[in-house]
Parts: sequence; structure tokens; C-alpha cells
Amino acid sequence: SKLLISAGPTREALDPVRFLTNRSSGKMGFALAEEALARGAEVTLVSGPVALSTPRGARRIDVESAEQMAAAIKSTLPGMDALIMAAAVADFRPQNIASHKLKKGDRNAANLELKRCPDILAEVVPEARPRVVVGFAMETSELLSGASAKLEAKNLDLIVANDLSQAGAGFAVDTNAVTILDRDGGADELPLMSKRAVAGRVLDRVVALLTALLLLLLPACGGEDNDDNGPTWPPSVAGPLQAGVAGGTLDLPVGVPLGGYTDRDRALGN
Ligand code: C5P
Repeated sequence: SKLLISAGPTREALDPVRFLTNRSSGKMGFALAEEALARGAEVTLVSGPVALSTPRGARRIDVESAEQMAAAIKSTLPGMDALIMAAAVADFRPQNIASHKLKKGDRNAANLELKRCPDILAEVVPEARPRVVVGFAMETSELLSGASAKLEAKNLDLIVANDLSQAGAGFAVDTNAVTILDRDGGADELPLMSKRAVAGRVLDRVVALLTALLLLLLPACGGEDNDDNGPTWPPSVAGPLQAGVAGGTLDLPVGVPLGGYTDRDRALGN
């Protein structure tokens, strides 16, 4: 399967030497990339500025601003099976980027005017929506209600709600405490665990959604596969999952590879 993952913060320039940013380290997104690669997925990682080395086998695209991240995601999205937006994308950027380094006496330096950044999930993703879209929500209050509102507003299949008020969770640490919310109102509250383990749990859910969609589509493909090239991969499903599809009723074993059909699967007739 082809997976697009975003990670890290964005930087919104004020002048040639200054920028607005946030505390994201990129560790959650990189852990997702590592875990997906270990499961055999093809991973494209769009990353803001982070101090992390590229997971072996990932295709990495480095960006700085929210606008650059939007452009990178727009150009890589077509053909992806799933998108996981773990990046902490800026919501606002300076209205004007000064062409020279702002000086203490500059009027613009004291009053910062901001404007909205593009919302990638809400504005860019619908143009080429992959079958499964996962967002992250970091909140310091009203975590679950805020996260479920974002799940609805951004038309996500899953949202990973990140409780920044809990010790050992959130930015720059190697552990995380999250609740995974789905479209059916399900809330899977996970205990504090390594970001790699969180990545595993998120990917288990992504695999379950992709597999549920595949099972749903298979009858429609039946009988049309007359060649010897293995099973026909179903066409992408645009738009939101129907109620019930994401219901978690599918009892998949943990660690199902994200690789989709491989040559070995074909040989085995899977
Ligand atoms: O910033 P917010 O809490 O709305 O972020 C929720 C989700 O939306 C995250 O997955 C984040 O990557 C995504 N996002 C985005 N574009 C933005 C801001 C956030 O896609 N400009």
C-alpha cells in the first residue's frame, strides 16, 4: 500500500531570519513512517524542519511553511491509499514577510498581523482524497469534543487525540497517550506507550479500514479478472466512509502487513 505521512512543525517567516513555529519534534510522524515501512508499505514522508534522520526506505520531502507543505501534499496525494497528517501545521502566518531583517524601530516589528494558512485536510485533500484519511488533534482542554468536531469538519476516517496535559504525552518525548476516535463515535483510549507502539495501533486501524473497503468492493470486481496477473485491485473510493464500514467489527490480527497484495500473496492465491 502507498502511504503519505506528514510530520513535524511548519515555519512561517516574519523576515529573512525570523519565523513563527511550534514545539512539534516530528517524532510521532517519523514513528508512523518507520512502523509502516516495517510492515511493507511504500512511504512518502512530507516533513517540516526536524532533527530526525530519514527512516530507511522512505521517500522524504522537506518543507518549511504550511503553504509548502500544502503544495507537497497536493502533488504527492494522487494514487495514495492513505494519508496520515501528523504534522503540526501552522494555522496562522504573518500577513507580510519583510524583505529585510526587521529592526527594533520598525513599526511592523511591534504589531504582528496574521492571516490564515491553508487548511490542508479541509482544503487540499478533498481534491484527491485517498481511501483513508487520518488526522491528529493536540489539545490542552476539551480534548475529545474538540477532536471529534475536527473529525467531522475535516471529513476524516480517524482522528488521534493527543492529550498535551498528560505527563509523557505530546511534543518532543518518545511516549504518547492518545485516544483514537472514529466516524462511528468509537473512542479507543490507549495508555501511555512509546510513539512507535502508538504508530502500530494507528496503522492497525488504517489496515482494518482499507481491508473493510476492499472486502466491500471485491464482489463488484468478481468475474472480471480474466488475466493471469492476480486479483484486480479495486478502484479507489472517493468520499467519506459509509456508516458501519469503519465500525471496528473486523477482527484483524495485530500486525497485518500494510503491503496490500504482494507477489507472494498472488502466488498463494490470496
Ligand atoms: O490545527 P488543527 O488542530 O486543526 O489540526 C488538526 C489536523 O489538521 C492535524 O492532522 C493537522 O495536521 C491538520 N491541519 C492541516 N492544515 C492546517 C492545520 C492543521 O491539515 N493548516
